[in-house]
Amino acid sequence: MIPVFEPDLGEEEIAAVADAIRRGEISGSFGESIPRFEEAFAHYCDCKFAVAVSSGTAALHLAVAALELKPGDEILVSASTNIATALAAYHNNVVPIPVDSERQTWNLDVDLVESLITPKTRAILPVHLFGRAVDMERVCEIARTHNLVVIEDCAESHGATFGNRKTGSFGEMGCFSFYANKIITTGEGGMIVTNNAKLAEKLKLLRNLAFTTPRFRHELAGYNFRMTGYQAAMGLVQCKKIEKVIAEKIRVAKTYDHFLSKVGGLQLPAPPKNGRHVYWMYGLVVQPEFGITRDELQKRLRDSGVDTRTFFCPMNLQPALQKQPGYRRVECPVAESLWKTGFYLPSSPTLSEKTIRQITETISHIAETSKANVTA
Ligand SMILES: Cc1ncc(COP(=O)(O)O)c(C=O)c1O
Repeated sequence: MIPVFEPDLGEEEIAAVADAIRRGEISGSFGESIPRFEEAFAHYCDCKFAVAVSSGTAALHLAVAALELKPGDEILVSASTNIATALAAYHNNVVPIPVDSERQTWNLDVDLVESLITPKTRAILPVHLFGRAVDMERVCEIARTHNLVVIEDCAESHGATFGNRKTGSFGEMGCFSFYANKIITTGEGGMIVTNNAKLAEKLKLLRNLAFTTPRFRHELAGYNFRMTGYQAAMGLVQCKKIEKVIAEKIRVAKTYDHFLSKVGGLQLPAPPKNGRHVYWMYGLVVQPEFGITRDELQKRLRDSGVDTRTFFCPMNLQPALQKQPGYRRVECPVAESLWKTGFYLPSSPTLSEKTIRQITETISHIAETSKANVTA
């Protein structure tokens, strides 16, 4: 089976982790690897500060916690995303309000944002889905007009740009994931970047149970969201490779584009208009003209040894979120249709042209037989 993703780890990561363990950099409170990784990643994102945490979910949770919002306040989130985005609000007793998607880019539809703002709205949390940056100039403009905070979910967009600015550097905070399938990985892990020194200090305090002096007396209710030292050591090695990984992701996407543009009935990822798409995953939407459904296409690909994943179940359809006090029903027809018709193909940076050809030829063959069935 060709997997949807394989991390590209080697001897350098293994040696870095082993060395960190030998130096005693086990938990999150020791050694130099964590501050060095934070410095390197902040620098990469063109931000002044970075705070390493235990996952992308923890990064989002901590970012919202730092805003000290009131129960029942609302945060606008992309409807089409991993539930971690919405849970960052939910677990802070804040209500996530889904913003429907745009048909072309699959990102949140910026045109809808203002219509969803109420007196309870405090922040906008857009997701740069599959590595394509949201129009952050417009999002930040709306946020300024309505006095809202912007937190970017960059779990899938390391190194993506809007204009010539990196994702994560537009909002008050940018949250990244280093899960195994992300553009760079520490196994589990996450990072918050910011240009706000006070906020960075607060995030560091809250991630470490808000320890101050005297030790064991706590003014704030913090969290243990610490990253381990040996994960940070791995992150430092991965950081050096990030541009190489992105170049490979773009190569994979361009190769898919080349072969799949000849197959009818498939919507390919929209090319970036203004910036760099990093193609965390190569997504497709199956249109009616393709002849068979997305589910059938996925099944036939699986039978041919190609693993795939569906797009996300939108936040307006999540039973877990509907039980929250203050829940507000919002229609998200585009995100719902993407959930039914979208899926992504194997997207490892190591994917060879030969393997991509094999996958696209399988899709072409399925398309030909499906269309023949439709016209027969
Ligand atoms: C958009 C998005 N946000 C948040 C997360 C959560 O990150 P993590 O798995 O590191 O907790 C993920 C993915 O895993 C994601 O894709």
